[in-house]
Parts: sequence; structure tokens; C-alpha cells
Amino acid sequence: MKRIGLMGCGTVAGYGHLPALRDCPDWELAAIFEPDAGRLAAAKKKFNVPNAFQEVEPFFESGIDAIAITSPAPCHIQNVRDAVRYGKHILCEKPLAMNEAEAEEMIALTRDAGLMLFTGFTYRFGDEALKVKDLVDQGVIGDILSLRLIYIWNCHGRYEIDENGNRIEQRRREGRMLEGGPLVDCGVHQIDLARWWLGSEIVRFQSAGAWVQDYEAPDHVYLHLDHENGAHTMVELSYTYCHTSKDPVHLYSYDLIGTDGVIRYDGADDFVSVRAIDQTLTIPVNKGKNFPALYQAFARAVETGKRGNLATATDGLIATRIARTATDQAIAARVRPIAR
Ligand SMILES: NC(=O)c1ccc[n+]([C@@H]2O[C@H](COP(=O)([O-])OP(=O)(O)OC[C@H]3O[C@@H](n4cnc5c(N)ncnc54)[C@H](O)[C@@H]3O)[C@@H](O)[C@H]2O)c1
Repeated sequence: MKRIGLMGCGTVAGYGHLPALRDCPDWELAAIFEPDAGRLAAAKKKFNVPNAFQEVEPFFESGIDAIAITSPAPCHIQNVRDAVRYGKHILCEKPLAMNEAEAEEMIALTRDAGLMLFTGFTYRFGDEALKVKDLVDQGVIGDILSLRLIYIWNCHGRYEIDENGNRIEQRRREGRMLEGGPLVDCGVHQIDLARWWLGSEIVRFQSAGAWVQDYEAPDHVYLHLDHENGAHTMVELSYTYCHTSKDPVHLYSYDLIGTDGVIRYDGADDFVSVRAIDQTLTIPVNKGKNFPALYQAFARAVETGKRGNLATATDGLIATRIARTATDQAIAARVRPIAR
């Protein structure tokens, strides 16, 4: 069994990566790296990891074959440079990089060193996304003309509710806005899903946003993508939907509109529905992110060189480029209200 190390024991590592790796038959979770001593000790204990480091060198020299990067996006480039220096294969959380230049450097470094670098687009491994992919590939609704992907929530909006039920300023907001706001944080997933389902590159895009506070990035964004096969995708992303509401809700949906019908998934349901010319289907799904499947695919890729459904570093670069450029477009097009 191959040995893996993980860099960055924060939120997504705690609920997704570390539990999956602890229970994974394909990887031995051999080491973790985390600059924060308290988080390092807590993760070591909770996930029963034999080796835990606050220094990079001993982490990489602890006998690991590959690493998972789950640090904040601004740290990804240095984590990748270090991994390449020590000859490790890499699965890196999204967004792969802060900009295109960083992503290009990562690709060149790993290619020259003969190492694998994948982008952790977890949503590809969700049962609902895999079912959609199968249905599209089977041509159940003919040729896809339009996609409508909605991902709106309140998690990184201005406010959150603390453990005592009080509304306080959101503690994780600043970091996410520094990473580029909702298009870079969540939008990279939707951009990737649209390209992956359609198998068609994006040739043009346009975006617009709305601001709640004077952060550089907008809080609520519309992004329109044109694909080279003539299909188009509309993405709606928000950090602010319901963020001041007493009882916030979270909206997540996929709609694919084809020449012969519609495929729909609503995050509130546990099924994908198909309304085609000759049939109406309700297909049950085990909804949600699937980190075990992500790590199974990573193990297979390291062993066989076959990437399966894993997103490549180039997929990560393309999503990063579009999300960042579209965010800049929305910033440039911002309409500032006239003071009355
Ligand atoms: N795929 C998904 O569904 C998903 C979900 C949430 C977050 N993410 C992505 O995962 C990454 C981490 O997000 P998070 O919400 O867990 O962040 P977080 O801030 O909660 O955790 C990041 C951890 O990395 C540590 N860290 C800081 N500098 C580091 C370095 N140089 N090297 C290694 N670790 C370092 C921090 O101390 C912290 O413990 C981000 O890129 C984010 O966009 C992905």
C-alpha cells in the first residue's frame, strides 16, 4: 500500500480528506504537515496519524510516496514546489493556484520531474455528478444546448450565527475573499463540471456581480460561458443569499437542457430526474461530496498512470484562469450607486 502525507489540517481536511484517508484501503495515511501546533496535534490524535510535522523537510523525508494539499490557495504554489523538490505525486485542492502563472509553473515543474499533479475537483466524484455524466454520455436528452448551474449559500457572506445563536461577522469570509471571492472559491467547480460533462472547451465568457461590502471581489455573481460546440452555461454563485436571514437556506442545482429533454438535480432531493421525449426517470443518488472515491482514483492513477475521472492540472489551470478573469471583468463592470 502506498503512503500519503497531507499538508494543511483545516476545515476541508477535517471533514473530508482526513476521514477518507484514515479509512481508505488504497492509502496509508502516514504523515501530516500543519503550521498551527494546536490543529496539528488535534488532527494527529483524531485521525490516528503516526507522524506529524510543523517543518516541511522532515514531513517530506518521512517515507511518503504522494501528498494531498489542503492548505489555503495562496500556499499551494510553495507546497507544490516543495513536493517536486522531494519527488512526490500531488493531489491539490481547488483552486489549483491563485493565477495562471502559478498554475503554469506547477505544470512545468511536475512535468519536468515526471510527477503527477491533479486538481481536487471533488464534485466530479459526487454520485449526482457521475449520474449526470453517464446520462449525457448515453445521449438520453440528445445534444446539450444549455446548462444552468446554481450554487448559492450563505457560508462566506457577511454574517454567521455563532454557537450561542448570535449573529456575528463571518470569521472565514476574509480568507475566501482574499482567494478571489465566490467565482474562484466555488465557481471553479461549476466551470469544471460544465467542461467535463460537455467535453467541450469554453471559448468566451462574461460575468457581472453585486457587492455587499467593499471587498475587491463581488459577493453574488452571474457567469455566462460559451462552449466551442455551441452550448452555453449559466452559473449563479452567491455568498450572500440569505446571509442576513433568520433561517438561511442553501440552493444547489444542476439543469441540463438538451434537444430531447432535460436532466435536473436539486440539492434538496436525493435523486436526479430525466424528462426525455420517450421516458421520465427518477434516479436515486447518494448525494454529497465523495472524498473516498477521489482518493481511490488518485491511488489508481499513481499505480497505473490512468487518471479516470480525476481532473488534471490543466483542468485546474483552465478553471482558475476563467474564474479569475471573470472576477476581474465583474470588478471592472461594477456599477457604484450614486449617493443621493
Ligand atoms: N473541494 C472542496 O469541496 C473544498 C471545500 C472547502 C475548501 N476547499 C479548498 O481547500 C483549501 C483549504 O480550505 P479550508 O477551508 O480547509 O481552509 P482552512 O483555512 O480551514 O485550512 C487550511 C489549513 O492550512 C494550514 N496552512 C497554512 N499555511 C500552510 C502551508 N503553507 N502549508 C500547509 N498548510 C498550511 C492552516 O493553518 C489551516 O489549518 C482551499 O484551497 C479551499 O478553496 C475545497
